[in-house]
This record gives sequence, C-alpha cells and structure tokens, in this order.
Amino acid sequence: MIRPRLVAGNWKMHTVPESASKLAAEIIQHKSEFGPVEVALFPPFTSLAAVREIVGKSKIRLGGQNMHFESEGAFTGEVSGTMLKASGCSMVILGHSERRLYFGETDQLINLKLEKALEGELIPIFCLGEKLPERQNGKTFEVLERQLAAGLGGLRFDEKQLVIAYEPVWAIGTGVNATPEQAAEAHRFLREKLSTLVGPPVAEKLRILYGGSVNAGVAGALFAEEEIDGALVGGASLKAAEFVEIVKKAK
Ligand code: PGA
Repeated sequence: MIRPRLVAGNWKMHTVPESASKLAAEIIQHKSEFGPVEVALFPPFTSLAAVREIVGKSKIRLGGQNMHFESEGAFTGEVSGTMLKASGCSMVILGHSERRLYFGETDQLINLKLEKALEGELIPIFCLGEKLPERQNGKTFEVLERQLAAGLGGLRFDEKQLVIAYEPVWAIGTGVNATPEQAAEAHRFLREKLSTLVGPPVAEKLRILYGGSVNAGVAGALFAEEEIDGALVGGASLKAAEFVEIVKKAK
C-alpha cells in the first residue's frame, strides 16, 4: 500500500487523567493486532501526561487537539506546539470543525497554526469539510477547495509531515455517515487539488482520513475504498473495544 493507514482517536473534551490512562491501557493491550496500521491518540491537554506514561515507547502516537500559532507569550489559556512536543506529542489536530464553529477559527488562523506545527515538526491532521446546507446547495467542492487552498497557502511539506482529514460537518457526532462513495468522491477531489498545490508525487502519497460518525459497523465499508487512508474517530474512540475493532478493519 503506498499510503500506510492511520486511525486517530479524537477524545475531544472527555476523560480526566485516571480515565484516560485506563482507556489508553485498554487500547494498547491490543497493539500486536494493529499490524501496519498507525494509531494515534488525542486526549485533552490535561490527560497528555497520563496517556504518555501508558503509550511509553510503543509506536502509538500521541497528539494534541489544538495549539496556538506562537511558541510562547501572553496568550492566557493557550497551549503551544512547543509545549505539545515537550509533552510527548508528535501530532496535532488543526482546523477541526468544532474549533471553526465554536471558537471562530478562520482559514487564515488555521494556516498560521499549520505553519507553526510544520516548523516545530509536529504532524498536523488538517481537518476540512462542508456543512449540510453547503452540500445541499451543491457547494461541497467549492468549500473544500477554498479551505484546502487557504489552509495550506504558502506552506511546504511532504507526505510524512502532514495528514488531511475530510470531515463533513453534517456527519460529525450525528450518527449520520457520509457513504463510502461520497467520502471517496471528496477524497479524490482533494487529492486532485493537492496535486496542483504540492505536485503529483507528494499528493499521491499524502494521507486523507475520513471523519464523521465512524464506528466499527461502518469502518469496513469505508476502508474498502482505496481513497480512504484511515479515519479520525470521535465518539467511538472513547470505547476501547470499538476503537480497536476500527483499527483492525483498517488493516
Ligand atoms: P465523531 O467525531 O466520530 O464523533 O463524529 C469525529 C471528529 O469530530 O473528528
């Protein structure tokens, strides 16, 4: 496979250190069953240290759910990429629709954050996706193209330095999935646009994850699409057995 699959668990604002340790331990117990699939866990900041202890020297990656675009400074309540790195993270989720929706993150701000993550050698999972009215009005591709171009504008990276996650907003936390065909169509479109941004050889190898109500029941059908290089899992990543099942389906 030219693109090693990645299954990422976005724990959102769930778990305290004790429950995070337990969840991570239950997942890691199955690591010998993951095969070539890369696995990454994104606990809240306050549980990073606890999960780091459990993940230890295993190949499971640790990541932050957000970061600021400066390394340090007078930014009360913010966490920087430098801090994530020093806390054992190798990845960071940026541009998540919940950040865009509830915290006013714009394409321009996300671009600054992506730049900083790349500079600090944190691998961003750059999220984008259309809202329901945009899909209904036939604007999906227009939105994806805008988010992709604005988010990645002026940045240089290769396939090892960045991951994209296509997350249609209408599918996040709603129990409604994009069909495998809808997801694959969006992924193909994104890859084509990436080709003009970073050149075909890198675009061909960049991983595009699908996210939005992924669970063990639908994972198999999604991963049957060769365009889908893994998943960014929210709700189902909080249940160890189900998350492990999703990872196994990605093999
Ligand atoms: P969900 O979340 O799996 O709960 O829909 C996905 C995400 O927000 O990354």
